[in-house]
Amino acid sequence: MSSKIADALIERIERRDIVFGIVGLGYVGLPLAVELARAGYRVLGFDVNPRVVSGLNAGRSHVKDVSDEQLREIASRFSATTDADRLREADAISICVPTPLSKFKDPDVSYIVAATEAVKGTLRRGQAIILESTTYPGTTREILLPALESTGLTVGEDFFLAFSPERVDPGNPTYGTRNTPKVVGGITHDCIRVAMALYQPAIEMLVPVSTTEAAELVKLLENTFRSVNIGLVNEMAIVCDKLGVNVWEVIEAAATKPFGFMKFLPGPGLGGHCIPVDPHYLAWKMRGLNYKTRFIDLAGELNTEMPLFWVRKVSEALNEQGRAVRGASVLVLGVAYKRDIDDIRESPALDIIRLLEGQGARVSYHDPHVPVFAEDGHEFRSVPLDPESVAAADCIMIVTDHSSIDYHMIRRKAKLVVDTRNAMPKED
Ligand SMILES: NC(=O)c1ccc[n+]([C@@H]2O[C@H](COP(=O)([O-])OP(=O)(O)OC[C@H]3O[C@@H](n4cnc5c(N)ncnc54)[C@H](O)[C@@H]3O)[C@@H](O)[C@H]2O)c1
Repeated sequence: MSSKIADALIERIERRDIVFGIVGLGYVGLPLAVELARAGYRVLGFDVNPRVVSGLNAGRSHVKDVSDEQLREIASRFSATTDADRLREADAISICVPTPLSKFKDPDVSYIVAATEAVKGTLRRGQAIILESTTYPGTTREILLPALESTGLTVGEDFFLAFSPERVDPGNPTYGTRNTPKVVGGITHDCIRVAMALYQPAIEMLVPVSTTEAAELVKLLENTFRSVNIGLVNEMAIVCDKLGVNVWEVIEAAATKPFGFMKFLPGPGLGGHCIPVDPHYLAWKMRGLNYKTRFIDLAGELNTEMPLFWVRKVSEALNEQGRAVRGASVLVLGVAYKRDIDDIRESPALDIIRLLEGQGARVSYHDPHVPVFAEDGHEFRSVPLDPESVAAADCIMIVTDHSSIDYHMIRRKAKLVVDTRNAMPKED
């Protein structure tokens, strides 16, 4: 039997007569806030970072996929706050906080715990809470549910709890929050009904699954799938290197098979907040159940070793020109973890720079999207990319293939290029 509270909430959702709270206004939370406001909800964003909040309230976006123009469009329905107490105004709350790894590569769910505490502080009858952060299966039921029920309210009757993983792909010009199908799992039948009703006006296609654990695992399967396949093509890059075969030619030819093959590309290693991180959440959970996730571990090892492979290529290439790495100037092109974005979290470029510097190279970098970054207490600034800076470097190392980089100029001016992305044009 469905609860009257769920029916009443759904009825208000259908009239868009609710406030939708978002906890965590980053790469995931902000684009979601925009789509929810566009769908007609009043949206209240809560973030612990006062700079993020004041910027957004002044109409300035800190997320590349959301423009200031889009913020202006939703200004009458969107506001941000650092005051957790104001979460009591929200009828529905999506939690989009970070889920990094600890130093020992175990899940760090401290942000989820902190966000849950904030939500618990203002939980009231008739609220719906949805976790969006990527995490191990069981998090919603084992962390959020007991905390929220400790208020005396009962899930599925007084409040509703669901998990719906965000699938945002920063920088993707085709798929954004609205047109990427969204998976939803609830603790009870009413939880899923309410969560589906909440997202339905903002997301083109919803995919209900039976439990929060299934929804949590969907996201981990997707990202583990990518990690394992990238690990496989990275191993193929090492194999091809040893055989003297061009790995990209092999992959392009294999990709002409119209069935049974999916193209993945080798590169300098994995980066970003998701693919290098999320599979470890599953591996950790399974360790607790006495199961070793072998594919995950192997892919992790292969992908983490790629920076070393590419630094070795730099050293061999310099050696062929009678030069040592020590004292050589290496200009790294691109430090963001992937093309045309500004995110350097877990970027393999950081390992590459550290390894090259460790071997005594003089490293500089150019990245049109990352003018400056700090690593190990050292500040790096992007140098200009022009014929002079390219010609002056002993080696140009292409780590991120941003589309605005003039590879033809590099081809004409560089003494030596090590290209981890197959970005260089074959001829002028
Ligand atoms: N970035 C991606 O491409 C991507 C894609 C899919 C899923 N995810 C997942 O989404 C989640 C969020 O990732 P993100 O990239 O948006 O992170 P982010 O770092 O860009 O944003 C997180 C925001 O949460 C805020 N925050 C931290 N603790 C908080 C708290 N207790 N209360 C309120 N706000 C708090 C931070 O200040 C920050 O603004 C992660 O679990 C991630 O794995 C990310």
